[in-house]
Amino acid sequence: MATKKPVIVYGANGYTGRLVCEYLRELHLPFIAAGRNKKKIQEVLDKVPGIETVDHEVVEVPHEVGALTELFRGAKVVSNLVGPFIKHGPEVVEACLAAGTHYLDATGEQDWLLDAQTRWGDKFAAKGLLLSPGVAQMYTTGEIAAQLCLEKPGLDTLDILVLWKGFPTYASTQTIFTILKADWFHLQNNQLVKWDPLMTAEAVVPGQHETALVLPWGGTSHPIWFKNDPRVISVKALGGVLDRSVMKGVAATVQMVEEKIKPLSKDQQEIELGKIAASVQAAMPPRENPRVNTSVDSVYATGPLGRAHCVIHGNSNYKQTGLLQAYAALSLSQQPPKRVGFASACQAFGHRELLGILRSFGLVLEPSITFQS
Ligand SMILES: NC(=O)c1ccc[n+]([C@@H]2O[C@H](COP(=O)([O-])OP(=O)(O)OC[C@H]3O[C@@H](n4cnc5c(N)ncnc54)[C@H](OP(=O)(O)O)[C@@H]3O)[C@@H](O)[C@H]2O)c1
Repeated sequence: MATKKPVIVYGANGYTGRLVCEYLRELHLPFIAAGRNKKKIQEVLDKVPGIETVDHEVVEVPHEVGALTELFRGAKVVSNLVGPFIKHGPEVVEACLAAGTHYLDATGEQDWLLDAQTRWGDKFAAKGLLLSPGVAQMYTTGEIAAQLCLEKPGLDTLDILVLWKGFPTYASTQTIFTILKADWFHLQNNQLVKWDPLMTAEAVVPGQHETALVLPWGGTSHPIWFKNDPRVISVKALGGVLDRSVMKGVAATVQMVEEKIKPLSKDQQEIELGKIAASVQAAMPPRENPRVNTSVDSVYATGPLGRAHCVIHGNSNYKQTGLLQAYAALSLSQQPPKRVGFASACQAFGHRELLGILRSFGLVLEPSITFQS
């Protein structure tokens, strides 16, 4: 089916997909809400106040390259919210490439980022298309803080903390467990160096007296994005959920995976991790509340002759992700990205622009930034 609508939201009935549709409505951008079950998508959209004020349609599509290509043809951009992306992403990326549409997702899976960069980065660049996995709060908001620090020349090392309050959705939980079987990396002297998966730390959290228990959280996307930034040589990111009991549970699970799951075959690992993830989260979390679901992104950037510290306090992790996806789609519907091929949200759209949109919808405070030289 050819389409004239500029945006396809794939996985539109999911927790994040719905939020992308809501923000597309607020940005007045026509879209197709797509997924594997039309009835479920329609039921979700019917609950969105004012959805009739945006030009949209609902389309059911099987998760196959051919059918997805046919649906995507004629659109400018696909916002893919069907994760874990290492598992479900390849068909969607292939379809975008075949149809000539830009690709966005909300990943933080390092193995998916590396795979996507290697397999499709050059092919997307050759067609003038953007391949931007990881347009999402957990990675983009921290990346904005890092980019604000890097406005001061001469800083080369990033120490990143990413924290949020809330409970992950079904696919987020599946994604977190999928990351557990991969290796995680930080960047040291521009080489990706493997983390000790059992590493935990106590982080000093800006704005509160209590420390937080944090983990490398799969390594996060930051070491991958900054590997090709000539200003930066080392990046470490730590984070998680601002709830000590949840983080203790995650740390115990990481240990169990190392001891009991990693010795199994790859297929068996997948099955066992899927079972554990489903037992942890099977229901949709409640809609976010800005007084409950807060986020904090903190970046220390250092170099031989200077230092910077940027803190961004925000709220509603999933709403931030929905808005970032919708704004990226709006931008791509009107103008080419700042960079084609494999690129982060800040590289493709500009960190000041992304900060501006998050600020204008009340999802983050004005960043607090200090420089020292
Ligand atoms: N990094 C961040 O800050 C951040 C923030 C938000 C989201 N995310 C990521 O975005 C992804 C989606 O999150 P979510 O919160 O929207 O999850 P969700 O509520 O569980 O939604 C998942 C969506 O994927 C669809 N889906 C699942 N398996 C499928 C398959 N085999 N074929 C076709 N569709 C399939 C689901 O459709 P059905 O209902 O039919 O199963 C649903 O529409 C996750 O990987 C999550 O980690 C990241």
